[in-house]
Amino acid sequence: MKKKFNTKVIHSGHSSDKDTGGVMPPIHLSSTFEQTEPGNFKYEYARTKNPSRDILEKLLAEIESGKQAFAFASGMAAINTVCDIFGDNYHIVCSDDVYGGTRRLFDKVKTGIDVTYVDFDKNINWDDIVSDKTKFIWLETPSNPLMKIIDIKNTSQIAKDFNLPIICDNTFASSFNQRPIEIGADIVVSSSTKYLGGHSDIVGGSIVINDPEKYADKIAYLQNAVGAVPSPFDCYLLTRSIKTLSVRMKQHNENALQVANFLNSHPKILKIHYPGFDPKYKDIAAKQMDGFGGMMSIVIDSDLKGVNKFLRQLNLFTLAESLGGVESLIEHPAIMTHASIDRKVREALGITDNLLRLSIGIEDVGDLIADLEQALQQI
Ligand SMILES: Cc1ncc(COP(=O)(O)O)c(C=O)c1O
Repeated sequence: MKKKFNTKVIHSGHSSDKDTGGVMPPIHLSSTFEQTEPGNFKYEYARTKNPSRDILEKLLAEIESGKQAFAFASGMAAINTVCDIFGDNYHIVCSDDVYGGTRRLFDKVKTGIDVTYVDFDKNINWDDIVSDKTKFIWLETPSNPLMKIIDIKNTSQIAKDFNLPIICDNTFASSFNQRPIEIGADIVVSSSTKYLGGHSDIVGGSIVINDPEKYADKIAYLQNAVGAVPSPFDCYLLTRSIKTLSVRMKQHNENALQVANFLNSHPKILKIHYPGFDPKYKDIAAKQMDGFGGMMSIVIDSDLKGVNKFLRQLNLFTLAESLGGVESLIEHPAIMTHASIDRKVREALGITDNLLRLSIGIEDVGDLIADLEQALQQI
């Protein structure tokens, strides 16, 4: 039976436990498995493969509309692994606004990778950028923290002309709102720490692929050889969390739209970055996303002192990194999540001292707006 998304999140990956009838699968904590004779086994050693991770990986592949998935100990471990499957000493094209940790990995850790950062809002002369050393195009859409939207379908058509894969970081949208593989992406990475986990109590990451013949062996090899894998307990927690992904995301989408409407007309807000409003992005967002998500960034009409006063005044928004949990969070990208990017680059992108990023939770939206309102009055 071809399942719809809301059914997949609940029924994919496992059915009732064969031994006990348990509706939820057991957590297989064993680190090693008995072999009937040397080399004859279903599972060998838990880093390589284990039943709890198998369930999660099947589930992740289905909800991303991919053919195969691989779970990792963090989003960064997933991104690092994706880079490693292409070898060393190569070139990539990357959208210019990406998570600070991704940029740090590309610029400062993967020294064998030469990166051309591209503003997808401008006309791109692909012939000038792509060379025979180019291995992939990296997209983060919506982007962190400026909520830029890139047309995935369009870019994947360009990528095909150059025979390059598109790798898309789908963390901000989550597979509920956007499934890049359905519109041309080859590989999807996510930080499952965010919406997939949804409760700010797991760190995890995933890679989902559409062409196992090309990539599966290489990823499985690195997953085992490097060993940046999630524990069976974290795999279980994620499987459990994903069951409520649809209902959580519906509420995130709804609450964020109302908060964005409120902030958009507030005199102390100079600019709001939210996919549903931005005239540059709203049509592409509406085309490739099923909802605009729970993330937005705002530029406050004040200096750092005023911004800090606003932050101190908030009661329901916790000042903390990360996003995608049921509780609302707020953070200061220039000092927190994007501090590892050089100040000049940051400011040229628009990550200024009066920019704040909000992750809208699923609390009562009237309470969230009232909290923002009273804090803005203090500036
Ligand atoms: C868009 C995006 N990708 C990747 C990551 C890295 O994920 P993790 O923190 O799980 O390593 C983050 C973390 O904030 C992120 O926002």
